[in-house]
Amino acid sequence: MRRMLLAAVAAIALGGTALADTIKVGVIGPFSGPFAIQGKNFKAGIDAWTALNGAKVGNDDVEIVYRDLPAANPAQAKSLAQDLVVKEHVQYLAGFYFTPDAMAVTPLLEQANVPMVIMNAATSAIVTKSPLVVRTSFTLWQTSVPMAKVAAQRGIKKVITAVSDYGPGVDAETAFATTFKADGGEIVESIRMPLSTTDFSPIMQRVKDSGAEAVFAFLPSGPTTLGFLKSYNENGLKQAGIQFLAPGDLTQESDLPALGDTALGVTTTFHYSIAHDSGENKKFVAAARTAIGNPAELSFPSVSAYDGMRVIYKMIEATGGKQDAKKAVDAVKGMAWESPRGPVSIDPESRHITQNIYLREVAKAEDGTYYNKEIQTFPNMTDPGLK
Ligand code: PHB
Repeated sequence: MRRMLLAAVAAIALGGTALADTIKVGVIGPFSGPFAIQGKNFKAGIDAWTALNGAKVGNDDVEIVYRDLPAANPAQAKSLAQDLVVKEHVQYLAGFYFTPDAMAVTPLLEQANVPMVIMNAATSAIVTKSPLVVRTSFTLWQTSVPMAKVAAQRGIKKVITAVSDYGPGVDAETAFATTFKADGGEIVESIRMPLSTTDFSPIMQRVKDSGAEAVFAFLPSGPTTLGFLKSYNENGLKQAGIQFLAPGDLTQESDLPALGDTALGVTTTFHYSIAHDSGENKKFVAAARTAIGNPAELSFPSVSAYDGMRVIYKMIEATGGKQDAKKAVDAVKGMAWESPRGPVSIDPESRHITQNIYLREVAKAEDGTYYNKEIQTFPNMTDPGLK
């Protein structure tokens, strides 16, 4: 003990860095309330990362400081971020489930000298709001363009869109409509639903009355998506021959037990299925299931959190633990690795993740559990929403 103390004092005297610092990472997400499972998945991904890679980078300890933001609330997001920076002295901000929360925090980053690693919020434009934003999740443009291609290939001609009326919903609607129309399709009606909508029966009636062959839908994953798909089933749209098209937010694995057999065969496009067949994914899923406790709750925000931690560790390594947001972000531009979702990289221009998007179908495994079975790959997609 005494010898260690002397060594540390000597190192300080010589200007060395023998003493370990603690690097704090502030993570903002929904850890209580109706979207708590989504926040739980941020934590499961982060815990899986530390279980497999340790809680140290070089000599420095990494400490995660969590802040609960139960619903989209930009003002609260901003004050939580300020608090994390000023009182907790975090060197990194991460998490952010909802777009409006991430948007509200981007103006703080440069002055605070703090990079933001987005683990979910999926509106394309967020990365353009500050050069210090890096995103390891996905965008609705990335996932909706392939769905429009699939719809056109299936010979569908008339689609009605129904999206939550905020950033990612508007992106999903625009991405789908632009691509589908370019492929010869027609959008017969575009419905935008307030985020607070819980009764979807009137929407289902409009879908039925529209004369469309299919509905393309986006809502943020959580009770909203479960309610929407249940309503599609209960209002007899499937029986009426109206196909269901959506990004994978609508069939997140944690919703599948409640949907049961009614979801079988539903196809979606997304960056990650828990059933992705790779060694890297098996290793991740085992660790993330242990971390989350109830395996049925594991869902997509876990993988963006896991990959987000890889990015943050690289940033800490590149800066030697010193607070230098620009240097940290520069160090991950072009970074490429094998994610549990497949091969990925950080686009050096946009700082958004380049990845495969998969067409998947809800299927039932031999043990009776439901999963998203990958059936087609759209390889190596940058964000089409940033062009
Ligand atoms: C978002 O607010 O950006 C968001 C939230 C949940 C999703 C997708 C996007 O499933």
